[in-house]
Amino acid sequence: MSGGRAAVITGIGGYVPPDLVTNDDLAQRLDTSDAWIRSRTGIAERHVIAPGTATSDLAVEAGLRALKSAGDEHVDAVVLATTTPDQPCPATAPQVAARLGLGQVPAFDVAAVCSGFLFGLATASGLIAAGVADKVLLVAADAFTTIINPEDRTTAVIFADGAGAVVLRAGAADEPGAVGPLVLGSDGELSHLIEVPAGGSRQRSSGPTTDPDDQYFRMLGRDTYRHAVERMTDASQRAAELADWRIDDVDRFAAHQANARILDSVAERLGVPAERQLTNIARVGNTGAASIPLLLSQAAAAGRLGAGHRVLLTAFGGGLSWGAGTLVWPEVQPV
Ligand code: UT7
Repeated sequence: MSGGRAAVITGIGGYVPPDLVTNDDLAQRLDTSDAWIRSRTGIAERHVIAPGTATSDLAVEAGLRALKSAGDEHVDAVVLATTTPDQPCPATAPQVAARLGLGQVPAFDVAAVCSGFLFGLATASGLIAAGVADKVLLVAADAFTTIINPEDRTTAVIFADGAGAVVLRAGAADEPGAVGPLVLGSDGELSHLIEVPAGGSRQRSSGPTTDPDDQYFRMLGRDTYRHAVERMTDASQRAAELADWRIDDVDRFAAHQANARILDSVAERLGVPAERQLTNIARVGNTGAASIPLLLSQAAAAGRLGAGHRVLLTAFGGGLSWGAGTLVWPEVQPV
């Protein structure tokens, strides 16, 4: 989107539920250890929802904060990126819009697993470019612990709950906060690497599942790891090229917080120095679609990300799906 009407970030907010689970807590009920989790994933603790809490509850909290940060009470559309909608039908976004008092605006969900925020950015930018909306609230929220098998040590130690949101308005491509060219991709040949087999039209939630574990999220970690490194590296390089940036121009690298080793490996391949990497995985784990906006809001609040920083974003997730994009960080106050 060069030259024309662009989507510009004007507000950001993040939210994690109060309950904290440490690695030692997990090691009390699973065959794992604090040392294994820290060394293989970089995670020390994560936030989880209390029973009865749903994705929309997280989304509303993050949405409220982003609207406050933007100083807005109204938007023209709401996009919610999530893998854990409150229910299979209808979408969760209309309820989020209603609870935020946003009225009868168009509101719908985007399902791109851990790449959801970047696919959501493309969707929100498209709504703005097409003139459907002048202002969009994009929320990315996941309650991953609701689909994780609590007995599966390969996923239970990684995935967690959280939400992040941005407000985007119509503006010019050369303004700070304007979403730069996005690179997105998918590979359905590898959909089995990250999946919840049951609960959709193939294995309906109303019928018996062939295997009770099919209702849970599963991930083939080692293969996923390899693809994550390759795809995020390639997409980041292409996004930087499209923005006419050299990697040296990147002040802050904000990658989906999948695994600290993956992030280090992508940064190293790209040639991004460690001090330019933003990371919060140690404290929040892998929060799916919420990962990037939560990272950006926490980094901005901590002073690690400031106005004028050239930011390279990248994500990878189930689908498979991946993406990358650039933006110059605007003058915004995270809430
Ligand atoms: O966010 C969407 C995209 N997701 C990702 O990008 C995640 C990608 N994958 C990963 O982050 C890593 O593959 C994992 C963290 C999931 C696993 O780390 P790994 O270094 O790839 O371990 P591994 O799967 O190769 O397993 C190594 C060993 C195995 O034991 P054996 O077969 O060598 O005896 C596992 O059974 O570690 C064992 N293991 C564990 N041990 C202690 C697996 N999970 C655990 C655990 N605690 N929680």
